[in-house]
Amino acid sequence: MTQRFHGTGIQGMNVPSSPWFEGRFGRMFREAPVFEPDPEVLRQLAETMREDDPRDPAGDNPDIPAGYTYIGQFLDHDITFDPTSSLQRANDPARLVNFRTPRLDLDSIYGSGPDDDPFMYDQSDPAVPKFLFGKIHEDDGTFIDEDDLPRNTQDRALIGDPRNDENTFICQLQLAFLKFHNRVIDEVLPSGLRGGDLLKETQRIVRWHWQWAVVHDYLRRTIGADMLSRLLTTDDDGCETVRLKHYRPKKNAYMPVEFSAAAFRFGHSQVRGGYKINNAVPALPTFLPGADVDRRADFRGFRGLPPQWTISWPFFFPLDEDPGPVASRKIDTSLAPPLFALPDASLGENRSLAHRNLLRGLRLELPSGQVVARVMGEEALSGAQLGLPGPGPAPLWFYVLKEAEILADGRHLGPVGGRIVGETILGLIKHDPLSYMSVEPCWKPHLGGAPGVFDIPDLLRFAVPDQVSRF
Ligand code: HEM
Repeated sequence: MTQRFHGTGIQGMNVPSSPWFEGRFGRMFREAPVFEPDPEVLRQLAETMREDDPRDPAGDNPDIPAGYTYIGQFLDHDITFDPTSSLQRANDPARLVNFRTPRLDLDSIYGSGPDDDPFMYDQSDPAVPKFLFGKIHEDDGTFIDEDDLPRNTQDRALIGDPRNDENTFICQLQLAFLKFHNRVIDEVLPSGLRGGDLLKETQRIVRWHWQWAVVHDYLRRTIGADMLSRLLTTDDDGCETVRLKHYRPKKNAYMPVEFSAAAFRFGHSQVRGGYKINNAVPALPTFLPGADVDRRADFRGFRGLPPQWTISWPFFFPLDEDPGPVASRKIDTSLAPPLFALPDASLGENRSLAHRNLLRGLRLELPSGQVVARVMGEEALSGAQLGLPGPGPAPLWFYVLKEAEILADGRHLGPVGGRIVGETILGLIKHDPLSYMSVEPCWKPHLGGAPGVFDIPDLLRFAVPDQVSRF
């Protein structure tokens, strides 16, 4: 097993084929040798990653409430979507199309806009491009079901990214962002802007607040305040500068496969085995295996929200002191059991997320975790620390999780994972010509409770005031 796990990577210096410095997908560590472990060994490794006791409080992360897990998934769906690479053979990232823009621009919400995706927008007043949600009551013409996403007659969500219908939590976040847009439009209306100008100004405010909350709330929690301060500095006038060593596109932003196929998948380890969404619905498992499951038995998506299932966000985010939100699980190499038998039929035979992640890393010809650590000038974890059979290299995704577990007690990412995630997210914002950092690096948010402060709880208070108390 040890031998096979060595692969051809470090010894073979088999440098991957993508020659591009930029593009839609690309490589952050272009010179690093590929790590090519035996696929069977990856299958076995994935099996070792099943959490023993999903209810053990020792596995809870006291620093990251459970809602941030799904902010991570929502963010991932804003910036990266690879529906075309194969799990069966090697893929050159330069030839893959990222179906999302590598920008924090919420294309997962806006789609291609009211002209090209008119089904998402309220047509009653084209001068005021608001999102549509809810259904019209057949008898009296009033709106009902305003707590669910708009859906077609087979209950599929009519939204900018189909993945945001994947589980109840991300569906409810998608809805919160639709409502966020509509509320910001109301704020901008008195300016007199209408139509395309109103849309542009609203999108600017929505996107900049989203970018701010990602950097100052989500990223600070995820990579830790120390790593964030190494990558981002704020001068005496409050203007921000980003300093990146490894994410350096020659021209346009690109999506690094080290991020999309490995480091940012750290979030899979934060998923809990079950959740409670409000006082009306009992605690339920995240997913049960199989297709034939009562729609009130788990939190799978691609179906309408059952009655009374509106999420009370204080169960997920720090919106009240007592009792406060439930925690996410620690960032470590153990994943909740439901992730080993995902209910999503579109995945085909292989329903183990751990196995898919490891295979995807192999098929996208990623370097090992140790190689990336060395390129970064970090001391690589030893074989004993990694807990693998022998001193062989570790797949990058596994390494990032183990590093967080050992060096940060699972509370935030470690030096390798934190730098890949931090540099990519800050790099995407820095290289987006329309982001707040590009247009107005001294900009401050104004929609939160206090000037210059805006976190995810502020966003929810503003967007969905009906969902920020406990019910
Ligand atoms: C219940 C929660 C989640 C489920 C069921 C889920 C499921 C999946 C699945 C099935 C894939 C495709 C795997 C493959 O074939 O390679 C995927 C990809 C991915 N996931 Fe998750 N995920 C969840 C949460 C998260 C979270 C919390 C994060 C990050 C914080 C995350 C980050 C990613 C990323 C970056 C990708 C690759 C996206 C791309 O480039 O196409 N996921 N996830």
